[in-house]
Amino acid sequence: MSKLWGGRFTKNTNQLVEELTASISFDQKLVNEDIQGSIAHVQMLAENNILTNEEMQTIVQGLNRVKEKIENGELTFSVADEDIHMNIESFLIDEIGPLGGKLHTGRSRNDQVATDMHLYLKNHTNDIIKLINQVQSAIVKQSEDHIYTTIPGYTHLQRAQPISFAHHLMAYFWMLQRDKERLTDSLKRINWSPLGAGALAGTTFPIDRKRSAELLGFNQIYPNSMDAVSDRDFILEFLSDCSILVMHISRLSEELVIWSSEEFNFIELDDSFCTGSSIMPQKKNPDVPELLRAKTGRVYGNLFGLLTVLKGLPLAYNKDMQEDKEGMFDTIETVEGALQLLAPMIETMKINQDTMRQAVNQDFSNATDIADYLVTKGLPFREAHEIIGKIVLYAIHQDQYLLDLSLEEYQQFSSLFENDIYEILSPEHVVSVRNSYGGTSPEQVSNQIELAKQTLN
Ligand code: ARG
Repeated sequence: MSKLWGGRFTKNTNQLVEELTASISFDQKLVNEDIQGSIAHVQMLAENNILTNEEMQTIVQGLNRVKEKIENGELTFSVADEDIHMNIESFLIDEIGPLGGKLHTGRSRNDQVATDMHLYLKNHTNDIIKLINQVQSAIVKQSEDHIYTTIPGYTHLQRAQPISFAHHLMAYFWMLQRDKERLTDSLKRINWSPLGAGALAGTTFPIDRKRSAELLGFNQIYPNSMDAVSDRDFILEFLSDCSILVMHISRLSEELVIWSSEEFNFIELDDSFCTGSSIMPQKKNPDVPELLRAKTGRVYGNLFGLLTVLKGLPLAYNKDMQEDKEGMFDTIETVEGALQLLAPMIETMKINQDTMRQAVNQDFSNATDIADYLVTKGLPFREAHEIIGKIVLYAIHQDQYLLDLSLEEYQQFSSLFENDIYEILSPEHVVSVRNSYGGTSPEQVSNQIELAKQTLN
């Protein structure tokens, strides 16, 4: 089969080479962006008298017909035509004849592919931002119902201090908020147009790069044609942002897995988000958060894959750069899929308030508060810490919790204890007095949720 670039060659391409170099199996995802880019390109060419208006119109109509035919499955991509760009150009020539060969005037596949990737990533970055919003809304909804629900807060996965369940969930809201801000900020750089950079050095035709950028909705053009065709840092930035995002998703998922274990039993995931075991009939497995936790592997892998591909590449375009695509597509699919599941999973999970309550009543996470109690009665904190440590040890030996000890027992350790000790020991009290800005008290958590809602709007 004759190649679009066949003029200089006397032999056919080796079959294995053809398979190695072709990217059509994966870059066909760029159909719409490629056609969109081509239409803007020819429109700009006509406006600058490089093509006639008639030629431009025939080419644009041809491209639209090609797009329709691809959508209807009427055209088959060919490996011999290597990639999406040359496949579409061939289809166009089949559709409108040799005039189709004018499409590529003043352009190279190098600026073309970079343009397609910018357009594709821009769309999907916006989609991902919207999906993060949905997860954040789900978090806010659950949190609003659980401002007064107390659970143990952990450090080192050991019970530390009781907290509001809403406070715990809302921590993820702000992590996701920063993820969203990072992606939003990256749009500034995705919004640069490489189109018109040519193969590497620009073109002899009097093109107008600003105009084609404007037609494509880009708000800036790469000032250096070599940078324009060599740069993939906009993809690296996306992969980095997504790596941080999936790390957050993975931590939340891990908590959902732990919380839904029989040992914790703090939540129950909705049946529609769980699966069963082929052998153990009693099982309800949290496969979804487990897989979301695991998906980090491929996203980090995609980031490291591309960093490695680009490292040490001389300017300008190198075929290595064709390897930028699968990792980016895979990351987009992975992240979009994860976020789509996360929102409804959070919204539908059942919160076992009784188990949470029982948990906070059966631990020593109020110990700091008795220490603070002695401090308010005038004891230095270090001495108070020492006394409470002894009381905790005593209670453990008696098989009791701090609320179970009698006043006489307390007074054996310090004469400063009085009856009001019992009020300050309840988990609700312990939570409500942590009223410093950003703390876990109902007042602070309510303010935080209010701020979160304003941030979402
Ligand atoms: N399929 C190629 C890629 O994705 C398009 C650019 C090819 N350019 C070239 N000079 N061979 O990188």
